[in-house]
This record gives sequence, C-alpha cells and structure tokens, in this order.
Amino acid sequence: MTNRRIVIVGFMGSGKTTVAKALARKLDCEMIDLDSFITEREGRSPAEIIQNESEREFREIETSALTDVLAQGSNPVIALGGGAWTIEKNRELVHQNSCLTVWLDAPFALCWERISQSKNARPLAPNREATMRLFESRRDDYRLASLRIHVDDSDSAAMLANRIVRQT
Ligand code: S3P
Repeated sequence: MTNRRIVIVGFMGSGKTTVAKALARKLDCEMIDLDSFITEREGRSPAEIIQNESEREFREIETSALTDVLAQGSNPVIALGGGAWTIEKNRELVHQNSCLTVWLDAPFALCWERISQSKNARPLAPNREATMRLFESRRDDYRLASLRIHVDDSDSAAMLANRIVRQT
C-alpha cells in the first residue's frame, strides 16, 4: 500500500465521494471532498456557483481550493469533482504534490442513472445527450490517472476501496 496521498477522479456519478469515504474508513485516515470544501469556504455549492456565475468562475475557485487542500498536506484521501482532473493546471498541482490518482471508471449508463436519480443539482449534466457527450470528451483526461478501477453497479464502495488498497 502506497504512502502517497490518493486522489480519486472520475465522472459525475462514478462514486468518488462514497469510495473516498470508504477508503478513508479502511485506512483509518482523514478524507476531504473538494466540492464540500468549496461549499464550506464559499458558502454556496459548485452547482450554485456555476448557475449563478459561470463554469469559468467555478474552475478558478476550484483550482484555488485544490491548491489549498494539497498545501494542507493533512488529508491522505482526496475526492475531486468530476471536472477537476480535466483541467491541466489541476493535474500539474496533483503531480507536483506526488499524489497517486485513481480513476473510477464507471460506465455511462450507471453514472447517468445516479445523476438522474440524485437530488444534487448538476448544471453540467442537464440531459442524457449532453451528459453523454461530456462523458466521452473527458475520457482521455481520466486515462491520465495512475490507476484505473472499473466500476459496475454490483460493486459496493467497500469493495472498490479494497481493490484500491490491493492495487496501490
Ligand atoms: C462537475 C462535477 C461536480 C461539481 C461541479 C462540476 C463536473 O462534482 O464539481 O458541478 O464538471 O463534472 P461531482 O463529480 O461530484 O458531481
């Protein structure tokens, strides 16, 4: 098992936050969810920032939040929002901090089922077609992660956390 910090990446609905929590429980360590950190710091959620300002504004806030989370050095497991890893500057930050990245590669159908059933607003996933286009357009970026974990709907968060531990 690595002693590097683990950064979980993947599309909306791939289970990043739940798996990061399960992993932190298993490793008996702290985890941080970048979107929750942003929500607390800004007093509004990523979805609200995107809706009320713009995606561009949100990306600036996100990069600055990621910089600060990584500088803290105290959270061994970090869950990113779905778009964070697609931004080159953010990937550089993660590399500079020698983190190990794990891509939760869930099929589109599973992500979409979770997105469409969730109460969380996701302005960048307004309908199935637009979301599928975004899903496809991001895959090359997610492939840049150090480890790829295939996810299907029968995998529990604990099972996925076990797999990550075995493979890192
Ligand atoms: C986004 C995903 C969201 C959140 C924001 C933008 C994206 O996080 O960061 O709405 O660009 O894919 P989740 O992946 O946790 O839904």
